[in-house]
Amino acid sequence: MKNRPSDIKELEKLTAEINEHNYRYHVLDSPVISDAEYDRLFRKLKELEELQAYSLPDSPTRRVGSAPLDKFDKVKHREPMLSLDNAFSHDEVVDFDKRIRKLLDGDINIEYTVEPKYDGLAIELTYRGGLFYRASTRGDGYEGEDVTHNIRTINAVPLRIETPGAPEEIDIRGEIYMDIDEFEALNRNREEKGEPPFANPRNAAAGSVRQLDPSITSERRLFLACYGIGAAKGIAFKRHLDFIDWLRKSRFPVPASVTVAKDIHQVIDELKRLEGERDKLAFEIDGAVIKVNEFSLQQKLGMKTREPRWAVAYKFKAHQATTKIVDIRGGVGRTGVITPYAVFEPVRIGGVTVSRSTLHNWDEIERKDIRIGDAVLVERAGDVIPHVLMVLKEKRTGKEINVPVPAVCPECGSHIVREEGEVAARCISLYCPAQLREKIIHFASRGGLDIEGLGEKNVELLFSRGLIKNFEDIYRLKKADLLELPRFAEKSAQNLIDAIAKSRQTTLAKFLFAIGIIHVGEYAAKQLAKNFEGLGALYHVKHEKIAGIRQMGEKIAASVSAFFCDEGNIKTLDRLKDLGFVIANPDYEAGPKGALPLDGMTFVITGTLPTTRQEVEDLIEKNGARASSSVSKNTSYLLAGDEPGSKLEKAKSLGVKIISFDGLLRLIEGKSGHPRLF
Ligand code: IVH
Repeated sequence: MKNRPSDIKELEKLTAEINEHNYRYHVLDSPVISDAEYDRLFRKLKELEELQAYSLPDSPTRRVGSAPLDKFDKVKHREPMLSLDNAFSHDEVVDFDKRIRKLLDGDINIEYTVEPKYDGLAIELTYRGGLFYRASTRGDGYEGEDVTHNIRTINAVPLRIETPGAPEEIDIRGEIYMDIDEFEALNRNREEKGEPPFANPRNAAAGSVRQLDPSITSERRLFLACYGIGAAKGIAFKRHLDFIDWLRKSRFPVPASVTVAKDIHQVIDELKRLEGERDKLAFEIDGAVIKVNEFSLQQKLGMKTREPRWAVAYKFKAHQATTKIVDIRGGVGRTGVITPYAVFEPVRIGGVTVSRSTLHNWDEIERKDIRIGDAVLVERAGDVIPHVLMVLKEKRTGKEINVPVPAVCPECGSHIVREEGEVAARCISLYCPAQLREKIIHFASRGGLDIEGLGEKNVELLFSRGLIKNFEDIYRLKKADLLELPRFAEKSAQNLIDAIAKSRQTTLAKFLFAIGIIHVGEYAAKQLAKNFEGLGALYHVKHEKIAGIRQMGEKIAASVSAFFCDEGNIKTLDRLKDLGFVIANPDYEAGPKGALPLDGMTFVITGTLPTTRQEVEDLIEKNGARASSSVSKNTSYLLAGDEPGSKLEKAKSLGVKIISFDGLLRLIEGKSGHPRLF
């Protein structure tokens, strides 16, 4: 079925159609079809191309699919790719204008263009006969690397120049960059895979282009802004702005704004505007480029060794700075999570003095190996709070100090719990001032003790007036106190006092949920109430005892045990009890608890057993133990059948006891208690 003219026509039509959608999506940012419809068209074109063993040179299917290279070829630039002089203040921009006017021997005003300076990777795109021919990096300015295969995967790069009368040959220069969101997503992904993160979007863009495997480049969402012309045959422009207009018409992405300024004062106004916009942009710019608009004047001005005289880069104030960490402390959030933060020597970044930044979590400190005394690179973007980008390890003196996860809460001094496999360290106390507001809002909420009139707003009010400083204070509130507050009248005050009094009569399940033990929801609270007769029975409860309750996981067990082993919590609970609480427990299931042979144990099962997994799990649970899916140091036994899996190795490495099915039966029967067999 080769070379059917109707198929070729269809193929041409589809190529043009998909290229149009590509352009709308990737350059104009305004697609007119859904992603699914796009995929359908793309698949159709691919099928046709395969059938005809033919594709057009600008076919979108050519963007992907070439094999990895083993190295980059070198490419000589026909015109050198220059760099730019920098100006760090408006005064230096005025000096630039003075220099130019002097060189041009005239007192005339020069027309300039001002455009963002993209912080990415400079690239040269060569088109021959209107078709994309080659892409190369800047390299040393004279010779770069051939990255054609990679650049072809970037959808914003036109594969064909669409304007009529396309030049015979043209080198177009631009910047490849990555959006901030994309950069952050990429880094999250890399960190999950244990790969080192990129320091900034520029490095990420450069790293993505300088890849020997084009399929990696194609997975990264890269963008392009074209701003310059190199060698060209068959086309000439009068002004920079005409060139930009031609690029735009030819469907090349151009800088987000290219503004003409009639004189240097207008240039400075535009610089101020751009700097104000900087933080609202989806990508990073590190300054603005000011260019003489008229190409004939550019020519007259010529260039120095490495920079043209007709352009200058005005650099915005850096968003990054180096400083020294003087302390690492923990801040307590409203849910008790202790978040580390760094205190550093005050440093100005982007015009603001900063002296601390969040370190996110304790794993991050370990991963980035941040120590007190370290010189660090700190970044602050927009309104975003600053963060430590990296440690400058070469500046270490050996006197830097490692900071462990704190053992006690910096707010209330009580114990901190860090669960296995969790990054968060938490304060679990009932009296931690950093958490009390949230805790009391939860305590009084509908699902908690349901104290009507003690919602979020009133809790805030009572806190701000100093009427509540802890849980007990709720039960010491007097009507007269409330009447002094703006939100209360005789009736509403009485109602709240009555609701508070009523809340003293509750059930254990409700109370356990209301006091907000981490991981204890309504279901777990009910399970606890079923197994413990009263609040006092939970005091100093052992982890294993909770873990032995059906469906109570390790996490809940650790949290409940830590909560009830905290002396401060027990004192708070006792004081509450003294304030007249009557806690009934209708859920309690009396029975031969504690008398089961496997009480409090945890089993993990691996391999094939003489009966079904479900039956074995039931057997284990009936005898007071819990069946868990993963081996940890808290596992009592690994029950191993035939062909055990990797759990066996793990159990061995953790020193967990291993038992056969027969061994399990013997264990059940041999122990004192009430064995419950099938
Ligand atoms: S014009 C001869 N315009 O900045 C001047 N450069 O520091 C050629 N850059 O190598 C450059 N945005 O990679 C120009 N709008 C822009 C730019 C820009 C970013 C980069 C470019 C250049 C570097 C110079």
